[in-house]
Amino acid sequence: MDVTPLSPKIGVEIAGIDLSQPLDEATFAEIRRLLNEHSLIAIRGQNLSEAEHVAFARRFGQLQIHVLKQFLTTPYPELYVLSNKREAGKPIGNHKEGWNWHSDLSYLEVPCLGSVLYAREVPPVGADTLFSSMEAAWEALDAETKAKIRPLKCVHSYSGYYAKAFADRTPLTEEQRAATPDVVHPLVRTHPETGRLSLYVGEDVVKEVVGLEPEESAALLARLNRHATSDEFSHRHVWRQGDVIIWDNRCTMHKATPYDDVAYTRVMHRATICGTERPF
Ligand code: OGA
Ligand code: MN
Repeated sequence: MDVTPLSPKIGVEIAGIDLSQPLDEATFAEIRRLLNEHSLIAIRGQNLSEAEHVAFARRFGQLQIHVLKQFLTTPYPELYVLSNKREAGKPIGNHKEGWNWHSDLSYLEVPCLGSVLYAREVPPVGADTLFSSMEAAWEALDAETKAKIRPLKCVHSYSGYYAKAFADRTPLTEEQRAATPDVVHPLVRTHPETGRLSLYVGEDVVKEVVGLEPEESAALLARLNRHATSDEFSHRHVWRQGDVIIWDNRCTMHKATPYDDVAYTRVMHRATICGTERPF
């Protein structure tokens, strides 16, 4: 296994492993260690069946089944499809998902630990994914800001995100809304395995800071989001078909970028690893 850094603050690439084969305990433990240490892992040139993708992701923990069941279009409900492609007149995946800074399923009481995203079909240009280290972002804040925001909490809202991101679609059903009530999480989060602190912010899903006036809340979130996503804490992944990216949702954010969705198709499969505790 060959490990090289992707950027100063976040990510490593691992070469020399084949995820279609069952990994031995020691190799998998090393992947877990690298994920805790670097928050993001890229493994390129993979050729995975849906079953192999699910089996690899399952090593990290239980897998989340997404509430948007219409995008679970493979035989494996653990795979959430992101795509602009249509088959038999229907979208096979959620298009324009994650086109804002976020961490996956932060709107759950127990948000997801991590995600394993596999590129099946990618456009030749565009559709890069940006990742940022919220640990590095926290570290770089001045002492006064750290002290001020440390006790704060935020409301995370899936229905709020959905209404903003997908305003042109039919709204969430009663059942989907009931499955995703708003939740409150700390603005500064402790990584349960490393003990490191990180900002826990995001655009759109993170609706407001509890206890602040609306303008003050919006200004603080805008400032922290801008800070957390600056180039110095970020990595831009330029996809090739066969890439697998694993990220830690407990200490990173990510964001999709646009592409020419008329000329090209993009098909991404995501397995999402359930979290094990409420953020603290
Ligand atoms: C995701 C996501 C970004 C992208 O899979 O969770 O936000 O570029 N993806 O597809
Ligand atoms: Mn995402």
